[in-house]
Amino acid sequence: MKILAIESSCDETSAAVLINGEVKSNIISTQHFHSKYGGVVPELASRAHIQYISEIVNHALKTSSCKISDIDTLAVTSEPGLVGSLIVGSNYAKGLSLKYNLPIVPINHIEGHLYSGAIEDNSLTFPYISLVVSGGHTVLYYVRSYSKYEILGSTIDDAAGEAFDKIAKLLGLEYPGGPLIDKFAKSGNREKYRFPRPMIHEDNFNFSFSGLKTSARYFLHNNFPDGTTENELCDIAASVQEAIVDVLVEKSLKALRQRKADKLAVAGGVSANSRLREKLDEISSRGKYKTFLPKMNYCIDNAAMIGFLADKKISEMGKDSFQDLTYRVNPSALRFGKKSRK
Ligand code: KG4
Ligand code: ZN
Repeated sequence: MKILAIESSCDETSAAVLINGEVKSNIISTQHFHSKYGGVVPELASRAHIQYISEIVNHALKTSSCKISDIDTLAVTSEPGLVGSLIVGSNYAKGLSLKYNLPIVPINHIEGHLYSGAIEDNSLTFPYISLVVSGGHTVLYYVRSYSKYEILGSTIDDAAGEAFDKIAKLLGLEYPGGPLIDKFAKSGNREKYRFPRPMIHEDNFNFSFSGLKTSARYFLHNNFPDGTTENELCDIAASVQEAIVDVLVEKSLKALRQRKADKLAVAGGVSANSRLREKLDEISSRGKYKTFLPKMNYCIDNAAMIGFLADKKISEMGKDSFQDLTYRVNPSALRFGKKSRK
């Protein structure tokens, strides 16, 4: 089976080709221009998707040495995300479907992340715990199969990536600030300042990061009213990062213990964080739990994860279940907790 997958839910335009479940190409184009606005501007995001989607799809086909006439199924992200961005990918897929008479598998973006750990590592077998941690989502799942999973908890306010970005902004760093906090933290002392670890000891799997952001705001206002030196910035970045990572790791461990699971898969942009990766590697090296961190191009928003899940769905349900082109994009898909980010 040859699948052409498209992802355009936020600020990445991506297309991938999978042959019999194996990723042959996964082209991702990130809209870096949003950084000058301090966040993703939905209208500009959808315009940029329109501008680049054909090129990205053609690039994905070419890289996999396929022609559109070789493809037998399309997959596209239909929820959740920015409505305009979702519409561009979905309508592009519908256009191809009508022209080439191809079925479309509409895929939930978060479900794409949920299973992305298995794209390259078939030792990620069910059941497992999954932490999806990005700019719009911070959710812990107990995953039983490709169609059955349970939400254990999610953020009740800001997502972890949002906290990184907002605190970075307070520190005068560009959007997206997560990678910059990570970079400055490498030269900082993570024990220097003690920031709150919200909800870390609560007996549930929910997260809350807006209090941490407020605490960082007061901390900076009271201690560094005139700004920071680079050394101070590094220490603050390392201390804030430690607080966020501690909460993510502790809640994931709690889920592993409570569900008696032994595998933890992590995905979403924040899984690029080097301190989080370091701590997860440490956990794996102790032997009791195995952690799965897909390579970066499968962690961030990408079409390969959309195609991968579509492949599984077709194996379970058959191609004929996906002939209906009247499905609609759904920006909020509330069952996944947090809505799309601004
Ligand atoms: O999954 P993603 O690419 O897009 C969505 O949010 O859907 O995640 C982007 C988020 C941003 O908030 C960004 O700051 C954060 O991931 N991020 C990081 C790092 N790289 C990306 N946060 C902390 N450390 C990083 N190295
Ligand atoms: Zn995502």
